Amino acid sequence: MHLLHNAVCVGGPILFLLLFVSPSPLCCSSWWGGVQMGPPDPILGVSEAFKRDTSPKKMNLGVGAYRDDHGKPFVLDCVRKAEALIASKQLDKEYLAIGGLGDFTKSCAQLALGADSEVLKSGRNITVQTISGTGSLCIGANFLSRFHSASRDVYLPKPSWGNHTPIFRDAGMQLKAYRYYDPSTCGFDFNGALDDISKMPEKSVIMLHACAHNPTGVDPKPEQWKEIADLVKKRDLLVFFDMAYQGFASGDIDRDAWAVRHFIEQGHKIVLSQSFAKNMGLYGERVGGFTVVCNDAEEAKRVESQLKILIRPMYSNPPMNGARIAATILNTPDLYKIWLEEVHGMANRIIKMREQLAANLKNEGSTLDWQHVIDQIGMFCFTGLKPEQVERLTKEFSVYMTKDGRISMAGVTSSNVGYLAHGIHAVTK
Ligand SMILES: Cc1ncc(COP(=O)(O)O)c(C=O)c1O
Repeated sequence: MHLLHNAVCVGGPILFLLLFVSPSPLCCSSWWGGVQMGPPDPILGVSEAFKRDTSPKKMNLGVGAYRDDHGKPFVLDCVRKAEALIASKQLDKEYLAIGGLGDFTKSCAQLALGADSEVLKSGRNITVQTISGTGSLCIGANFLSRFHSASRDVYLPKPSWGNHTPIFRDAGMQLKAYRYYDPSTCGFDFNGALDDISKMPEKSVIMLHACAHNPTGVDPKPEQWKEIADLVKKRDLLVFFDMAYQGFASGDIDRDAWAVRHFIEQGHKIVLSQSFAKNMGLYGERVGGFTVVCNDAEEAKRVESQLKILIRPMYSNPPMNGARIAATILNTPDLYKIWLEEVHGMANRIIKMREQLAANLKNEGSTLDWQHVIDQIGMFCFTGLKPEQVERLTKEFSVYMTKDGRISMAGVTSSNVGYLAHGIHAVTK
Protein backbone atom coordinates (compact mmCIF):
# COMPACT_ATOMS: atom_id res chain seq x y z
CA MET A 1 0.00 0.00 0.00
CA HIS A 2 2.87 2.31 0.84
CA LEU A 3 4.46 1.77 -2.59
CA LEU A 4 1.18 2.30 -4.36
CA HIS A 5 0.64 5.56 -2.53
CA ASN A 6 4.11 6.81 -3.51
CA ALA A 7 3.71 5.73 -7.12
CA VAL A 8 0.50 7.58 -7.61
CA CYS A 9 1.18 10.66 -5.47
CA VAL A 10 4.91 11.25 -5.95
CA GLY A 11 6.07 9.60 -9.17
CA GLY A 12 2.79 9.93 -10.92
CA PRO A 13 1.33 7.65 -13.57
CA ILE A 14 4.67 6.73 -15.21
CA LEU A 15 6.08 5.14 -12.10
CA PHE A 16 2.77 3.38 -11.54
CA LEU A 17 2.99 1.83 -15.02
CA LEU A 18 6.59 0.77 -14.48
CA LEU A 19 5.74 -0.95 -11.24
CA PHE A 20 2.52 -2.70 -12.20
CA VAL A 21 2.28 -3.05 -15.98
CA SER A 22 5.74 -3.49 -17.44
CA PRO A 23 7.09 -7.05 -17.36
CA SER A 24 9.35 -7.59 -14.40
CA PRO A 25 11.90 -10.41 -14.64
CA LEU A 26 11.10 -11.36 -11.08
CA CYS A 27 7.34 -11.75 -11.24
CA CYS A 28 7.09 -13.21 -14.76
CA SER A 29 10.02 -15.61 -15.00
CA SER A 30 9.06 -19.27 -14.81
CA TRP A 31 10.94 -22.23 -13.47
CA TRP A 32 9.63 -24.38 -16.32
CA GLY A 33 9.85 -22.01 -19.25
CA GLY A 34 12.39 -24.26 -20.95
CA VAL A 35 10.26 -27.39 -20.72
CA GLN A 36 9.32 -28.55 -24.20
CA MET A 37 5.93 -30.07 -25.02
CA GLY A 38 6.37 -33.84 -25.18
CA PRO A 39 4.65 -36.12 -27.68
CA PRO A 40 1.42 -37.78 -26.52
CA ASP A 41 1.52 -41.46 -25.54
CA PRO A 42 0.79 -43.38 -28.75
CA ILE A 43 -1.80 -45.69 -27.18
CA LEU A 44 -3.54 -43.14 -24.98
CA GLY A 45 -3.62 -40.81 -28.01
CA VAL A 46 -5.65 -43.47 -29.86
CA SER A 47 -8.12 -43.61 -26.95
CA GLU A 48 -8.50 -39.82 -26.96
CA ALA A 49 -9.31 -39.79 -30.67
CA PHE A 50 -11.76 -42.66 -30.14
CA LYS A 51 -13.60 -40.70 -27.42
CA ARG A 52 -14.11 -37.75 -29.79
CA ASP A 53 -15.60 -39.94 -32.55
CA THR A 54 -19.42 -39.89 -32.57
CA SER A 55 -19.95 -42.89 -34.88
CA PRO A 56 -22.15 -45.56 -33.23
CA LYS A 57 -20.01 -48.21 -34.93
CA LYS A 58 -16.68 -46.98 -33.55
CA MET A 59 -14.26 -49.57 -32.15
CA ASN A 60 -11.26 -48.97 -29.87
CA LEU A 61 -8.73 -51.71 -30.58
CA GLY A 62 -5.76 -49.70 -29.32
CA VAL A 63 -5.68 -50.33 -25.61
CA GLY A 64 -4.79 -53.77 -24.25
CA ALA A 65 -7.56 -54.39 -21.77
CA TYR A 66 -9.94 -57.34 -21.86
CA ARG A 67 -13.58 -56.76 -22.72
CA ASP A 68 -16.44 -59.25 -22.50
CA ASP A 69 -18.49 -60.23 -25.55
CA HIS A 70 -20.64 -57.12 -25.02
CA GLY A 71 -17.54 -54.93 -25.16
CA LYS A 72 -17.70 -54.18 -21.43
CA PRO A 73 -14.80 -54.20 -18.89
CA PHE A 74 -14.81 -57.51 -17.07
CA VAL A 75 -14.33 -58.01 -13.34
CA LEU A 76 -13.64 -61.67 -12.62
CA ASP A 77 -16.04 -63.50 -10.33
CA CYS A 78 -13.10 -64.85 -8.30
CA VAL A 79 -11.98 -61.24 -7.73
CA ARG A 80 -15.43 -60.19 -6.48
CA LYS A 81 -15.50 -63.21 -4.16
CA ALA A 82 -11.96 -62.55 -2.88
CA GLU A 83 -12.88 -58.91 -2.20
CA ALA A 84 -15.92 -60.01 -0.17
CA LEU A 85 -13.79 -62.45 1.80
CA ILE A 86 -11.17 -59.80 2.53
CA ALA A 87 -13.84 -57.25 3.55
CA SER A 88 -15.40 -59.76 5.95
CA LYS A 89 -12.06 -60.09 7.78
CA GLN A 90 -11.90 -56.39 8.69
CA LEU A 91 -8.12 -56.36 8.16
CA ASP A 92 -5.93 -53.43 9.15
CA LYS A 93 -4.27 -50.99 6.76
CA GLU A 94 -0.75 -51.02 8.18
CA TYR A 95 2.25 -50.66 5.87
CA LEU A 96 3.36 -53.75 4.02
CA ALA A 97 7.00 -54.83 4.19
CA ILE A 98 9.33 -53.25 1.60
CA GLY A 99 9.18 -56.46 -0.44
CA GLY A 100 5.41 -56.72 -0.16
CA LEU A 101 2.87 -59.19 1.19
CA GLY A 102 4.50 -62.53 2.01
CA ASP A 103 1.45 -64.62 1.11
CA PHE A 104 1.40 -62.91 -2.24
CA THR A 105 5.10 -63.10 -3.17
CA LYS A 106 5.27 -66.79 -2.26
CA SER A 107 2.29 -67.77 -4.40
CA CYS A 108 3.32 -65.36 -7.18
CA ALA A 109 6.67 -67.17 -7.55
CA GLN A 110 4.94 -70.53 -7.31
CA LEU A 111 2.54 -69.61 -10.09
CA ALA A 112 5.41 -68.76 -12.41
CA LEU A 113 7.93 -71.45 -11.51
CA GLY A 114 5.51 -74.27 -10.69
CA ALA A 115 4.66 -75.81 -7.31
CA ASP A 116 7.38 -78.47 -7.70
CA SER A 117 10.10 -76.04 -8.65
CA GLU A 118 13.53 -76.98 -7.35
CA VAL A 119 14.35 -73.24 -7.15
CA LEU A 120 11.51 -72.69 -4.66
CA LYS A 121 12.37 -75.80 -2.67
CA SER A 122 15.97 -74.75 -2.28
CA GLY A 123 15.00 -71.14 -1.54
CA ARG A 124 17.31 -69.74 -4.18
CA ASN A 125 14.85 -67.19 -5.48
CA ILE A 126 13.89 -63.83 -4.17
CA THR A 127 10.49 -62.47 -5.21
CA VAL A 128 9.30 -58.98 -4.31
CA GLN A 129 5.86 -57.49 -4.84
CA THR A 130 5.89 -54.72 -7.43
CA ILE A 131 3.62 -52.07 -8.90
CA SER A 132 2.27 -54.39 -11.59
CA GLY A 133 4.41 -55.45 -14.56
CA THR A 134 5.71 -51.97 -15.32
CA GLY A 135 6.93 -51.50 -11.77
CA SER A 136 8.55 -54.91 -11.87
CA LEU A 137 10.42 -54.11 -15.08
CA CYS A 138 11.49 -50.82 -13.56
CA ILE A 139 12.86 -52.46 -10.40
CA GLY A 140 14.53 -55.08 -12.60
CA ALA A 141 16.10 -52.52 -14.93
CA ASN A 142 17.45 -50.51 -12.00
CA PHE A 143 18.73 -53.64 -10.28
CA LEU A 144 20.63 -54.61 -13.44
CA SER A 145 21.94 -51.10 -13.83
CA ARG A 146 23.31 -51.20 -10.28
CA PHE A 147 24.60 -54.76 -10.09
CA HIS A 148 25.06 -56.27 -13.55
CA SER A 149 28.38 -54.59 -14.10
CA ALA A 150 29.48 -57.13 -16.73
CA SER A 151 27.35 -55.46 -19.42
CA ARG A 152 25.08 -52.46 -20.02
CA ASP A 153 23.54 -53.96 -23.15
CA VAL A 154 19.90 -55.04 -23.14
CA TYR A 155 18.66 -56.73 -26.31
CA LEU A 156 14.94 -56.30 -26.99
CA PRO A 157 13.00 -58.23 -29.61
CA LYS A 158 12.21 -56.14 -32.68
CA PRO A 159 9.51 -54.95 -32.10
CA SER A 160 8.88 -55.06 -28.36
CA TRP A 161 6.40 -53.54 -25.94
CA GLY A 162 6.86 -49.77 -26.34
CA ASN A 163 7.52 -49.15 -22.65
CA HIS A 164 10.53 -51.49 -22.51
CA THR A 165 12.76 -48.90 -24.19
CA PRO A 166 12.23 -45.96 -21.80
CA ILE A 167 12.24 -48.25 -18.76
CA PHE A 168 15.71 -49.64 -19.53
CA ARG A 169 17.05 -46.40 -21.02
CA ASP A 170 15.99 -44.36 -17.99
CA ALA A 171 17.73 -46.92 -15.77
CA GLY A 172 20.96 -46.23 -17.66
CA MET A 173 21.11 -49.38 -19.78
CA GLN A 174 22.03 -49.44 -23.49
CA LEU A 175 19.22 -50.56 -25.78
CA LYS A 176 19.96 -53.05 -28.57
CA ALA A 177 17.63 -55.19 -30.66
CA TYR A 178 17.43 -58.66 -32.15
CA ARG A 179 15.30 -59.82 -35.06
CA TYR A 180 11.99 -61.31 -33.95
CA TYR A 181 9.08 -60.58 -36.28
CA ASP A 182 9.08 -61.44 -39.95
CA PRO A 183 6.70 -59.12 -41.84
CA SER A 184 6.76 -61.39 -44.89
CA THR A 185 5.12 -64.24 -42.94
CA CYS A 186 3.56 -62.21 -40.10
CA GLY A 187 5.29 -64.84 -37.95
CA PHE A 188 8.43 -65.50 -35.89
CA ASP A 189 11.78 -64.84 -37.59
CA PHE A 190 13.42 -67.84 -35.95
CA ASN A 191 16.57 -67.87 -38.08
CA GLY A 192 16.98 -64.11 -37.77
CA ALA A 193 16.63 -64.32 -33.98
CA LEU A 194 19.16 -67.17 -33.72
CA ASP A 195 21.58 -65.35 -35.98
CA ASP A 196 21.37 -62.16 -33.90
CA ILE A 197 21.59 -64.00 -30.58
CA SER A 198 24.70 -65.84 -31.76
CA LYS A 199 26.39 -62.44 -32.21
CA MET A 200 25.42 -60.89 -28.88
CA PRO A 201 28.44 -60.10 -26.69
CA GLU A 202 28.73 -62.45 -23.72
CA LYS A 203 27.01 -61.33 -20.48
CA SER A 204 24.56 -59.10 -22.36
CA VAL A 205 20.96 -59.07 -21.18
CA ILE A 206 18.31 -60.54 -23.47
CA MET A 207 14.66 -59.67 -22.99
CA LEU A 208 12.26 -62.50 -23.78
CA HIS A 209 8.46 -62.26 -23.67
CA ALA A 210 7.43 -65.46 -21.89
CA CYS A 211 4.17 -65.80 -23.85
CA ALA A 212 1.70 -63.75 -25.89
CA HIS A 213 4.40 -61.44 -27.27
CA ASN A 214 3.29 -57.82 -27.34
CA PRO A 215 2.79 -56.30 -29.91
CA THR A 216 3.06 -59.16 -32.43
CA GLY A 217 1.16 -62.06 -30.82
CA VAL A 218 3.94 -64.26 -32.20
CA ASP A 219 5.57 -66.76 -29.81
CA PRO A 220 8.34 -69.30 -30.46
CA LYS A 221 7.19 -72.94 -30.45
CA PRO A 222 8.56 -75.22 -27.66
CA GLU A 223 11.18 -76.71 -30.01
CA GLN A 224 12.31 -73.20 -30.95
CA TRP A 225 12.41 -72.14 -27.29
CA LYS A 226 14.72 -75.10 -26.63
CA GLU A 227 17.16 -73.98 -29.31
CA ILE A 228 17.03 -70.40 -28.06
CA ALA A 229 17.74 -71.58 -24.48
CA ASP A 230 20.76 -73.58 -25.68
CA LEU A 231 22.18 -70.72 -27.69
CA VAL A 232 21.59 -68.19 -24.92
CA LYS A 233 23.50 -70.49 -22.59
CA LYS A 234 26.36 -70.80 -25.08
CA ARG A 235 26.56 -67.00 -25.34
CA ASP A 236 26.38 -66.72 -21.53
CA LEU A 237 23.56 -64.17 -21.67
CA LEU A 238 21.46 -62.99 -18.74
CA VAL A 239 17.78 -63.67 -19.47
CA PHE A 240 15.11 -61.18 -18.47
CA PHE A 241 11.69 -62.78 -18.90
CA ASP A 242 8.68 -60.50 -19.09
CA MET A 243 5.56 -62.53 -18.29
CA ALA A 244 2.62 -60.13 -18.44
CA TYR A 245 0.10 -62.64 -19.84
CA GLN A 246 0.42 -65.96 -18.01
CA GLY A 247 -2.77 -67.90 -18.79
CA PHE A 248 -3.94 -65.31 -21.26
CA ALA A 249 -2.19 -66.86 -24.25
CA SER A 250 -3.38 -70.45 -24.26
CA GLY A 251 -5.85 -70.35 -21.36
CA ASP A 252 -3.53 -72.68 -19.42
CA ILE A 253 -1.26 -71.11 -16.81
CA ASP A 254 1.26 -73.97 -16.91
CA ARG A 255 1.51 -74.05 -20.67
CA ASP A 256 2.10 -70.31 -20.80
CA ALA A 257 4.90 -70.59 -18.20
CA TRP A 258 6.60 -73.39 -20.12
CA ALA A 259 9.44 -71.30 -21.55
CA VAL A 260 10.30 -69.75 -18.15
CA ARG A 261 10.38 -73.17 -16.49
CA HIS A 262 12.37 -74.70 -19.34
CA PHE A 263 15.08 -72.05 -19.12
CA ILE A 264 15.35 -72.59 -15.36
CA GLU A 265 15.56 -76.38 -15.80
CA GLN A 266 18.39 -75.77 -18.24
CA GLY A 267 20.30 -73.93 -15.55
CA HIS A 268 19.59 -70.31 -16.56
CA LYS A 269 19.53 -67.94 -13.63
CA ILE A 270 16.84 -65.71 -14.98
CA VAL A 271 15.21 -62.56 -13.73
CA LEU A 272 11.46 -62.44 -14.17
CA SER A 273 8.75 -59.83 -14.26
CA GLN A 274 5.11 -60.80 -13.64
CA SER A 275 1.87 -58.87 -13.91
CA PHE A 276 -1.61 -59.72 -12.65
CA ALA A 277 -3.23 -56.93 -14.67
CA LYS A 278 -4.49 -59.11 -17.49
CA ASN A 279 -4.82 -62.62 -16.11
CA MET A 280 -6.77 -61.49 -13.02
CA GLY A 281 -8.20 -58.34 -14.59
CA LEU A 282 -6.53 -56.33 -11.80
CA TYR A 283 -5.34 -53.54 -14.14
CA GLY A 284 -5.82 -50.58 -11.79
CA GLU A 285 -4.86 -52.49 -8.64
CA ARG A 286 -1.24 -52.65 -9.86
CA VAL A 287 -0.19 -56.11 -8.70
CA GLY A 288 3.02 -57.71 -9.91
CA GLY A 289 6.18 -59.49 -8.89
CA PHE A 290 9.89 -59.35 -9.63
CA THR A 291 11.94 -62.50 -9.15
CA VAL A 292 15.67 -63.11 -9.25
CA VAL A 293 16.76 -66.74 -9.51
CA CYS A 294 20.08 -67.03 -7.69
CA ASN A 295 22.83 -69.61 -7.23
CA ASP A 296 21.77 -70.50 -3.71
CA ALA A 297 19.71 -69.30 -0.75
CA GLU A 298 22.55 -67.25 0.69
CA GLU A 299 22.95 -65.30 -2.56
CA ALA A 300 19.17 -64.81 -2.65
CA LYS A 301 19.33 -63.19 0.79
CA ARG A 302 22.01 -60.75 -0.36
CA VAL A 303 20.04 -59.90 -3.51
CA GLU A 304 16.91 -59.40 -1.40
CA SER A 305 18.73 -56.92 0.83
CA GLN A 306 19.74 -54.86 -2.22
CA LEU A 307 16.27 -54.98 -3.77
CA LYS A 308 14.93 -53.53 -0.54
CA ILE A 309 17.54 -50.77 -0.63
CA LEU A 310 16.46 -50.01 -4.21
CA ILE A 311 12.72 -50.00 -3.45
CA ARG A 312 12.76 -48.06 -0.17
CA PRO A 313 13.51 -44.60 -1.60
CA MET A 314 11.28 -45.17 -4.65
CA TYR A 315 7.94 -45.87 -2.97
CA SER A 316 8.84 -47.29 0.45
CA ASN A 317 6.53 -50.30 0.18
CA PRO A 318 3.88 -51.49 -2.28
CA PRO A 319 0.08 -51.07 -2.00
CA MET A 320 -1.77 -53.91 -0.28
CA ASN A 321 -5.24 -54.17 -1.75
CA GLY A 322 -4.48 -55.85 -5.07
CA ALA A 323 -1.88 -58.12 -3.48
CA ARG A 324 -4.45 -59.27 -0.93
CA ILE A 325 -6.92 -60.04 -3.72
CA ALA A 326 -4.37 -61.99 -5.78
CA ALA A 327 -3.04 -63.84 -2.71
CA THR A 328 -6.57 -64.77 -1.63
CA ILE A 329 -7.34 -66.18 -5.08
CA LEU A 330 -4.06 -68.07 -5.32
CA ASN A 331 -4.32 -69.49 -1.80
CA THR A 332 -8.04 -70.37 -1.59
CA PRO A 333 -8.69 -73.63 -3.48
CA ASP A 334 -12.30 -72.79 -4.46
CA LEU A 335 -11.33 -69.35 -5.75
CA TYR A 336 -8.25 -70.70 -7.49
CA LYS A 337 -10.45 -73.17 -9.36
CA ILE A 338 -12.84 -70.40 -10.45
CA TRP A 339 -9.87 -68.28 -11.55
CA LEU A 340 -8.43 -71.04 -13.75
CA GLU A 341 -11.81 -71.40 -15.45
CA GLU A 342 -12.15 -67.66 -15.93
CA VAL A 343 -8.64 -67.27 -17.39
CA HIS A 344 -9.47 -70.11 -19.72
CA GLY A 345 -12.74 -68.39 -20.63
CA MET A 346 -11.03 -65.07 -21.45
CA ALA A 347 -8.33 -66.73 -23.57
CA ASN A 348 -10.93 -68.84 -25.37
CA ARG A 349 -13.08 -65.86 -26.24
CA ILE A 350 -10.05 -64.22 -27.83
CA ILE A 351 -9.14 -67.38 -29.74
CA LYS A 352 -12.76 -67.59 -31.00
CA MET A 353 -12.65 -63.96 -32.16
CA ARG A 354 -9.45 -64.67 -34.10
CA GLU A 355 -11.17 -67.52 -35.92
CA GLN A 356 -14.27 -65.44 -36.60
CA LEU A 357 -12.25 -62.49 -37.88
CA ALA A 358 -10.38 -64.72 -40.34
CA ALA A 359 -13.63 -66.44 -41.41
CA ASN A 360 -15.42 -63.10 -41.89
CA LEU A 361 -12.55 -61.76 -43.98
CA LYS A 362 -12.90 -64.78 -46.23
CA ASN A 363 -16.67 -64.27 -46.43
CA GLU A 364 -16.08 -60.64 -47.41
CA GLY A 365 -14.20 -62.03 -50.41
CA SER A 366 -10.65 -61.32 -49.25
CA THR A 367 -8.17 -63.44 -51.14
CA LEU A 368 -5.30 -62.49 -48.81
CA ASP A 369 -3.87 -65.05 -46.40
CA TRP A 370 -5.19 -64.26 -42.89
CA GLN A 371 -3.93 -67.44 -41.24
CA HIS A 372 -1.63 -65.36 -39.01
CA VAL A 373 -4.70 -63.85 -37.34
CA ILE A 374 -5.50 -67.37 -36.08
CA ASP A 375 -1.90 -68.46 -35.45
CA GLN A 376 -0.89 -65.46 -33.36
CA ILE A 377 -1.68 -65.72 -29.69
CA GLY A 378 -2.75 -63.58 -26.74
CA MET A 379 -4.37 -60.22 -26.54
CA PHE A 380 -2.86 -58.68 -29.66
CA CYS A 381 -2.90 -59.37 -33.36
CA PHE A 382 -0.32 -57.84 -35.66
CA THR A 383 -2.58 -57.58 -38.68
CA GLY A 384 0.09 -56.63 -41.21
CA LEU A 385 -1.92 -53.51 -42.16
CA LYS A 386 0.25 -50.67 -43.42
CA PRO A 387 0.07 -47.21 -41.79
CA GLU A 388 -1.97 -45.79 -44.69
CA GLN A 389 -4.44 -48.69 -44.41
CA VAL A 390 -4.70 -48.11 -40.65
CA GLU A 391 -5.42 -44.46 -41.35
CA ARG A 392 -8.21 -45.33 -43.78
CA LEU A 393 -9.70 -47.86 -41.36
CA THR A 394 -9.86 -45.14 -38.73
CA LYS A 395 -11.13 -42.38 -41.02
CA GLU A 396 -13.68 -44.38 -42.99
CA PHE A 397 -14.76 -47.01 -40.44
CA SER A 398 -14.01 -45.43 -37.03
CA VAL A 399 -11.80 -48.38 -36.11
CA TYR A 400 -9.04 -47.13 -33.81
CA MET A 401 -5.69 -48.91 -33.46
CA THR A 402 -1.98 -48.17 -33.24
CA LYS A 403 -0.20 -47.16 -36.46
CA ASP A 404 1.85 -50.37 -36.51
CA GLY A 405 -1.30 -52.33 -37.43
CA ARG A 406 -1.71 -53.91 -34.00
CA ILE A 407 -5.24 -54.60 -32.82
CA SER A 408 -6.34 -55.69 -29.38
CA MET A 409 -8.40 -58.83 -30.02
CA ALA A 410 -9.92 -58.31 -26.58
CA GLY A 411 -11.95 -55.41 -28.02
CA VAL A 412 -13.48 -57.59 -30.76
CA THR A 413 -16.92 -59.08 -30.02
CA SER A 414 -19.45 -61.37 -31.75
CA SER A 415 -21.43 -58.28 -32.73
CA ASN A 416 -18.61 -56.15 -34.19
CA VAL A 417 -16.30 -58.78 -35.72
CA GLY A 418 -18.25 -58.70 -39.03
CA TYR A 419 -17.97 -54.92 -39.24
CA LEU A 420 -14.24 -55.08 -38.49
CA ALA A 421 -13.69 -57.69 -41.21
CA HIS A 422 -15.69 -55.55 -43.63
CA GLY A 423 -13.49 -52.53 -42.86
CA ILE A 424 -10.22 -54.45 -43.07
CA HIS A 425 -11.23 -55.98 -46.39
CA ALA A 426 -12.22 -52.58 -47.77
CA VAL A 427 -8.79 -51.11 -47.05
CA THR A 428 -6.73 -54.13 -48.12
CA LYS A 429 -8.40 -55.26 -51.38
C1 LIG B 1 4.82 -57.07 -22.55
C2 LIG B 1 4.26 -56.30 -21.41
N1 LIG B 1 4.99 -56.18 -20.30
C3 LIG B 1 4.53 -55.51 -19.23
C4 LIG B 1 3.31 -54.91 -19.26
C5 LIG B 1 2.94 -54.18 -17.99
O1 LIG B 1 1.65 -54.01 -17.71
P1 LIG B 1 1.16 -53.57 -16.28
O2 LIG B 1 2.12 -52.57 -15.75
O3 LIG B 1 -0.19 -53.02 -16.52
O4 LIG B 1 1.14 -54.81 -15.44
C6 LIG B 1 2.51 -54.99 -20.40
C7 LIG B 1 1.21 -54.33 -20.49
O5 LIG B 1 0.64 -54.07 -21.50
C8 LIG B 1 3.01 -55.72 -21.50
O6 LIG B 1 2.29 -55.87 -22.60
